[in-house]
Parts: sequence; C-alpha cells; structure tokens
Amino acid sequence: MRLPRGTILVVASHNPGKVREIKALLGPHGIEPVSAGEFGLPEPEETGATFAANAQLKARAAADGGHHPALADDSGLWVNALDGAPGIYSARWAGPTKDFSIAMARLEKELREKKAGDLSAKFVCALALAMPQGECRIFEGEVHGKLVFPPRGTQGFGYDPIFIADGESLTFGEMEPHRKHAMSHRARAFEKLLHSGAFAESL
Ligand code: IMP
Repeated sequence: MRLPRGTILVVASHNPGKVREIKALLGPHGIEPVSAGEFGLPEPEETGATFAANAQLKARAAADGGHHPALADDSGLWVNALDGAPGIYSARWAGPTKDFSIAMARLEKELREKKAGDLSAKFVCALALAMPQGECRIFEGEVHGKLVFPPRGTQGFGYDPIFIADGESLTFGEMEPHRKHAMSHRARAFEKLLHSGAFAESL
C-alpha cells in the first residue's frame, strides 16, 4: 500500500482534538487530510474489544463509505491500578456531553477508593490505514507515565491535564503542542506508519 503525494486521506474521527493532531502530523507528508465530518460520513459504533479492532472498524467504514483511503485512530488511557480502565472506554467515561472533567474526577475517585498507591499509566494509540474495499494495516504506539491530580493545564484534550510522561515534569495539558507531538502515543504510532513506506514521498 503506497499513497502518492496529493492523495486525499479521510481522517476517520469526529474528535476535533484528534483531527487537529493527525492533520499536523500528516502535514509535512504531502497528503491531503479531510475529516470524516467534512465528508459527511457517519461515525460507526465502536464495538471492538481492543484499540486495534476499533481503529480498524472506523478506518474500514470511512474508506468504504468515502471511496478514499482512510486513517483512523483509536486511543485511550490505560491505568495500571485500575486494570487498564478506562482503556477503550476512555471517551465514554466523559459522558454524552464529552466533559473530561467528569472523566478525570471519576478516575481520581476510583483510585482513591482503591487506595491505589500506583499512579502509573500509559496512553495507547492504534492507527488503522484502510484502502477502499481493500487492505487495512495497523500501527500501535504507547507513551508511559503517571497521573497527577488535580488536573493541570489547558492545552491538548481529553486526559492530557492529568498525564505526565516519564522523564517530564509538565502534564500534556501544560506542554506546548509541538512537544507533546514529539513524544505522544499518536506520534509513535505515526512513526511506525511513516516507516512502513505507506506515504511514497515521505521516506
Ligand atoms: P476514541 O479513540 O475516539 O474512542 O477516544 C479516545 C479517548 O481517549 C479520547 O476521547 C480521549 O479521552 C482519550 N485520549 C486519546 N488520546 C489522548 C491524548 O492524546 N490526550 C488525552 N486524551 C486522549
């Protein structure tokens, strides 16, 4: 699978934070990213049991529905003391209003109730690149770190204000976006995608 310069690539996400980050990561590679929302494509239900399965489901639906290659991201926060929660349910913990202060407060409450001393966590990202009616490839990335409460910073999205990557002192919510982009789970999954040779002009 090789996408020549100028290829229209559907970014199969309706999450504006993710679409922004994916467009920034794709920018230098001569690909024309268009979000699934701009194409009027519906959002499929995430019925998979893993990040990879959900990414594949979203990429396949967008590629087949939009007749262009599609890239989907399924990602989330994995908290060790909570046996991997919220995991694939990371978005759903924010409820119908997508309010992540609710999700972060729930995390803090569950950790307190468990009297968890271990605040280690990781962000995980699975990227799926699907061709219309064709091949689908998966690339995964992780960034390890720990949680801090209360939330700090207004950059980024989702759980960024409570996550500090190993070796850093600022949360992803306090960090300049370009610094987060250099080390995030999404950036690491992207590196694998780029090294796969999927974008013909990027190597
Ligand atoms: P989904 O992949 O659309 O199911 O949603 C993933 C959810 O995981 C997002 O809505 C965020 O809550 C969380 N998440 C994924 N990546 C990040 C990130 O880079 N920063 C903060 N939260 C993230």
